[in-house]
Amino acid sequence: MVSTRRPGHVRSTLTGPDFLGPPGRRSARLTRPLVTAAAAALAAPLVLAAPASAGSGDNLGADLRGARPGAESVGDRLFPTLGNGGYDALHYDLGMTYQAATRTVEATTTMTAVATQNLSRFSLDFDGNTITSVRLDGGPVAFARHDEKLVITPARPIRAGTPLRLAVAYHADPRSTAFTCVVPPPATPSAWVPIDSGFVDAGQPNCEHTVFPSNDHPSDKATYTFRLTVPQGTTAVANGRLVSTFDGPDRTTTTSVYREDAPMASELTQIVVGDFTVAQVPGAAGVALRNVVSTASAAQIEPVLTQEAEQVAWMVDRAGPYPFGVYGELVPDGIDNLGFALETQTLSLFPSGFIKSNRNPVRVQRVLVHELAHQWFGDSVAPATWSDIWLNEGHATWYEDNWADPDGSNLLSQMHDAYAASDRMRAADGPVALPDTAEVMFDNNSYDGGALVLYALRQEVGDATFARIERAWQARFHGRDAGTADFIALSSAVAGRDLRGFLTPWLYSRSTPAMPGHPDWTVLPVQPAAAPSVAAAAHPARAAR
Ligand code: TRP
Ligand code: ZN
Repeated sequence: MVSTRRPGHVRSTLTGPDFLGPPGRRSARLTRPLVTAAAAALAAPLVLAAPASAGSGDNLGADLRGARPGAESVGDRLFPTLGNGGYDALHYDLGMTYQAATRTVEATTTMTAVATQNLSRFSLDFDGNTITSVRLDGGPVAFARHDEKLVITPARPIRAGTPLRLAVAYHADPRSTAFTCVVPPPATPSAWVPIDSGFVDAGQPNCEHTVFPSNDHPSDKATYTFRLTVPQGTTAVANGRLVSTFDGPDRTTTTSVYREDAPMASELTQIVVGDFTVAQVPGAAGVALRNVVSTASAAQIEPVLTQEAEQVAWMVDRAGPYPFGVYGELVPDGIDNLGFALETQTLSLFPSGFIKSNRNPVRVQRVLVHELAHQWFGDSVAPATWSDIWLNEGHATWYEDNWADPDGSNLLSQMHDAYAASDRMRAADGPVALPDTAEVMFDNNSYDGGALVLYALRQEVGDATFARIERAWQARFHGRDAGTADFIALSSAVAGRDLRGFLTPWLYSRSTPAMPGHPDWTVLPVQPAAAPSVAAAAHPARAAR
C-alpha cells in the first residue's frame, strides 16, 4: 500500500572483539511516475471518438489505448532497479511447503494489488527460483523474466484503479547460490539463510525478492498472510500473529497460518522453519511477547533475553505505543557467519553465537535494544528511500546508546568521539542523509553519524522538545514510510521554529557543523587514504557489529 501523502563500518555487524565470528562484513524523494489521464490521452493515437454514451464501458477501449507499462523502478537512487511504479501492492499471501528430504520449498506467492495507471504490463522484483506457473485473476497470463524482474503482460490492459491478483508458483532451494541480487556491503548471496533444519530470512535492504516476488521497496508496504507447511515436529514462524495450526490429511505435516495486519515493507519479512522452541514470555506495556529460539540452545539463549519486557516498556515510554500486535526475538543456531542482527517486523533476528557468548553482556543488550527500537524506527515508520537509512540506524543507535547509559555520562564522551570522527565518516561515505553508494549505507556514518545528528538536534531544541519530536514522528507516520524532508518538517512543526537551516547541513553537508553547547568540539582532519578504517575505529568496542 502506498502512503496517501505520497509526493508530495559497519556498525551493525556482529563481529568485533566481543563476538568471535568469522571475519565479518567490515566494519530525492520518490516520485511514482503516475500517468495522468491527460498524459494518457495525449499518448493515445487520435481516434474518432464514438458518440459519448451513458454506458461507462463504451469509453473503456479508447482510454486504455493510452495504457503503458508500469515503470520498472520506483526511482530509488541507491537501488535504481527496485520496484515498479504502475501498481500499489496491498497484500501478499505466501504459501510455502518445506520438504525436509530435499531441504527445498514449494511456494506460491499471491499478490493483491491495484493498478495506479492504465497498465499494458507490469513487473515484480523476483530473482532466482524456478517458476512453475503464473496466473492473473485466476487465469493463465504471459510472463517473462529479465535481470531481477518478472514481467507480466495481461491479454488486455488493466484500467487504473482496478484490483489485480497475481499468483506465482515456484520451486526454491534456500541453499542455492544462483542469484543475481547482491546485498551490500556484500553480505549474503540471497535472503534465504539456510540452516540444517530449514531456513531463516534476511533480505534487507534489497534482496527479499529472492524469497518471494514483490514490489520490493519500503515505499510500497502491504499486509501479509503466511501459510507454512512443514513436517510434523518442525516449527514454522513468520511475522505477525499465529492465526491457526492444522495437521495435513496424512498427519505427516502441519500447516501454521500467520498474519501481519500492520503494513510491512517486503524487506522486513521473516519466515523461519526448523528445530525451534516458541517461548511465550510475560509481556509488558500491553505487548504480547514470544521468542523463537533454536531448541538445542534454548537453555543458553533464554536467560540472555530476560530484559526484553523491560526494554519494550522503556521504548514505549520514549517512542510511544508499540506499533504491532506482538514482538519477539528469533535466535537461530547455525547463522553466525551472517554477521549482523536484523529488525524483521515483530520478530527480530539474532545469530545465536552472539547471544550465547554474552562475553560483554552490555553489548549484547545494546543490540537487543537496537533491533527493538527499529520496530518503531525503520519498521512502523519505514524509510521513504534507502538514502534515508540514517532515520533507521541513527534512531536505533540513539536508543541503544541511551539504554546503555541511563545517566548520560558515557553518551557525552561517545558523542564527542563521534563528532571527532564525523568529517572522516562523511568524507568516506557521503553526507549522513545522502550515502554515496549502497555499499556504505550500513557504515558508521549511518549509525553513529545518524545518532550524532539526533544529539545535535536535542542540543538545539532541548530535551523536552526532542522527546516530543520523537513521539510525534511515530504518531504522524506509523504504518507508513517517511523521509528526511518529513523529519525536518515535523521537527520544525513540533519545535515551533524553522529547523531547515539547522538540520540541512547536519544531514546534507560533507563537513560537520558546530555542535550546539559544545563550542570546543573539533573534528579530526580528513585523511583520504585512512578514512574508512578510522571511521570504523571511532568506537572500537562497537565496530563491526
Ligand atoms: N539493519 C541491521 C541492523 O542495524 C544491519 C544490517 C542488515 C546489515 N543488513 C545488513 C549490515 C547488511 C550490513 C550488511 O540491525
Ligand atoms: Zn540497525
